[in-house]
Amino acid sequence: MEASDMLRYKKIPLLHGAGTIPAVGFGTLIPDPIATKQAVKSALSVGFRHFDCAERYLNEGAVGEAFSESIAAATLRREDLFVTTKLWNTNHRPERVKPAFEESCRRLQVDYLDAYLIHTPYAFRPGEEKDPRDEQGQVIYDPDVTLIETWRALEELVESGRCRSIGLSDVTLDKLKEIVEASRIKPAIVQVESHPYLPEWELLDYCRQQGIVLLAFASLGHKMVPNLLEHPVIAAIAERLGKTPAQVVLAWAAQRGTAFLTTSVNPRGSRRTSISPACPRTRCSRCAST
Ligand SMILES: NC(=O)c1ccc[n+]([C@@H]2O[C@H](COP(=O)([O-])OP(=O)(O)OC[C@H]3O[C@@H](n4cnc5c(N)ncnc54)[C@H](OP(=O)(O)O)[C@@H]3O)[C@@H](O)[C@H]2O)c1
Repeated sequence: MEASDMLRYKKIPLLHGAGTIPAVGFGTLIPDPIATKQAVKSALSVGFRHFDCAERYLNEGAVGEAFSESIAAATLRREDLFVTTKLWNTNHRPERVKPAFEESCRRLQVDYLDAYLIHTPYAFRPGEEKDPRDEQGQVIYDPDVTLIETWRALEELVESGRCRSIGLSDVTLDKLKEIVEASRIKPAIVQVESHPYLPEWELLDYCRQQGIVLLAFASLGHKMVPNLLEHPVIAAIAERLGKTPAQVVLAWAAQRGTAFLTTSVNPRGSRRTSISPACPRTRCSRCAST
């Protein structure tokens, strides 16, 4: 098992020669674009290089500004970043995939993506309305496209050289198996909610067999109740090791072979999240002042 102090540097190989993905990723699901830009800059300054974005987060432009300003200031090189973004449900029809991809690249100010994921397996009615609903408030799905048809359009992005790897998000094991069996280019990454309350062992076993990286979101439990970071077992391990509960939970994710995402809008949060030697207390006043 890797020493916990080295986990922050861990990289995991991706399928079809797409290089490696840093195990530690910063998520950009932040509602306010100004807060997004600030959070991305803070995350860059403390060493995050893997960023998870999405067309649906409506803030790719703010993320792109943070990247381009850091690159212009010579504090960052594009090749050091691992940038993922996701195709939204209203763009599943194959003819909509490339334009959606190009728009995301334009907003993010990048000319290629390290990973492009299908955000969910559900196709919504195509159009500008991101969350189309009928008069009863029910979601309007698109019955005229299948997931494998969308997947084929993502395969073309890899073949065109604009996208290094492709994957799925929010999928079940059964859906993943369907795509693996039907694909020319297998998914390199599967992004799902996963943490000690939702370990997804069966999905992880399958991903390991197939060489697919499981990328966990909500890896700190997303402040859900009961609070994962206050679980007595996590708290006892943290106390014994002199780490924060967040560091214990993230080390668990990396040591079982997954990559993971976490997010903070608090400029000190990214530092608290670091799985390196740090203050043994959660949210202590000494850390808060560093
Ligand atoms: N594919 C999908 O459908 C999907 C769905 C959800 C999320 N995601 C991705 O996954 C990313 C992460 O998800 P998430 O936000 O749910 O993750 P999370 O890390 O479980 O939850 C983030 C929350 O934890 C707090 N936090 C951060 N660092 C902390 C620390 N060291 N100690 C204590 N609390 C801490 C943050 O509060 P502060 O801001 O106050 O620090 C924030 O409220 C998202 O940004 C997004 O990119 C993907």
